[in-house]
Amino acid sequence: MSKDNELRMVVHLNEKPIYDIILTESFDGLLQEMVALGSEKKKLCIVTDTNVAPLYLELIKGLLSDCCRDVTTYVFPAGEENKNLDTVRGVYEHLIQNKFDRKDYLIALGGGVVGDLCGFTAATYLRGIGFIQIPTTLLSQVDSSIGGKTGVDFDSYKNMVGAFHMPKLVYTNVSVLKTLPFEQFSNGMGEVIKHGLIRDKDYYEWLLTNKEKIMDRDPQVLRQMVYGSNLVKREVVEIDPTEQNERATLNFGHTLGHAVEKLMNLSILHGHCVALGALAALKICERRNFVSADQVERYREAMEFFHMPMSVHGIDKKDVVAATKNDKKMEAGVIKFILLDQIGHAFIDKSVSEEEMEEALSVIMD
Ligand code: GLY
Repeated sequence: MSKDNELRMVVHLNEKPIYDIILTESFDGLLQEMVALGSEKKKLCIVTDTNVAPLYLELIKGLLSDCCRDVTTYVFPAGEENKNLDTVRGVYEHLIQNKFDRKDYLIALGGGVVGDLCGFTAATYLRGIGFIQIPTTLLSQVDSSIGGKTGVDFDSYKNMVGAFHMPKLVYTNVSVLKTLPFEQFSNGMGEVIKHGLIRDKDYYEWLLTNKEKIMDRDPQVLRQMVYGSNLVKREVVEIDPTEQNERATLNFGHTLGHAVEKLMNLSILHGHCVALGALAALKICERRNFVSADQVERYREAMEFFHMPMSVHGIDKKDVVAATKNDKKMEAGVIKFILLDQIGHAFIDKSVSEEEMEEALSVIMD
């Protein structure tokens, strides 16, 4: 594929270029990118799960074997329940047995679970080795592969153990989205639309205007969409890499969304929970006269268009509000709720009351 079909952006940290995000429609350019990172002197370990391995592992292994000293693979059972320290231990053992040293790299091939777990292993093995993100779901392409958040779950606590560790490269092939199960595609759309809502009204409008083409998974449109989403995420993580302030705006929809996700025992996908939480948060924004009822309705219609769940059943509003208190994003016991003062601009608000949350939850719960 020609370079004309490639979009590229650099992510900076303290104004220094740290890594590239490359958006393409194939894996053809991966070898060249790896060579540019000095892969020929390195061992590589591809970490992936049992969902992704049958689809892309042999292809990626074949490509990489031409550009490194040795390539090994570590495949673990797919599922959030395996995003834990036991799986990390398995990867450590593999790396030790295969004599990986500090100059060698891990390759995260998969969705958010693989990227977070592989990134955390890379952050901690020998006090940190390099890793590459090859995200294969929409959610990981637009969110979890960018910004260096890595980690695993601990007992029932999501992402409770982790580290900031930047990848050396994010190589995103949007053509893999064509065969992504629709539910996973819709899951990622929750985060995509959120990026427009919190920081870029024009991008939000573009998404709504192009929704049919997005739904058809037209590769050109998908590349443009992922690019727009990556621009938002890049801007936020460059301003505030370690979530002292601005990065928290990415958590729009998360306070109530995470609480629902936990109470529903992860039976609703993360992006869908975020979308439901965002709808409830928009209701608070409407009550505070920041956005109009029509704007909330437009967002609701977009959720419906992308087949997201529109309501949750079997849990109680009071329990959802109570569960927000366990959110690890609290600061000194105060919830940092993310609101919009207009479509395309988010801010942190510490004054949202339990009553406001409970009332807003009526939009998604009985
Ligand atoms: N997923 C939110 C963040 O990267 O900060």
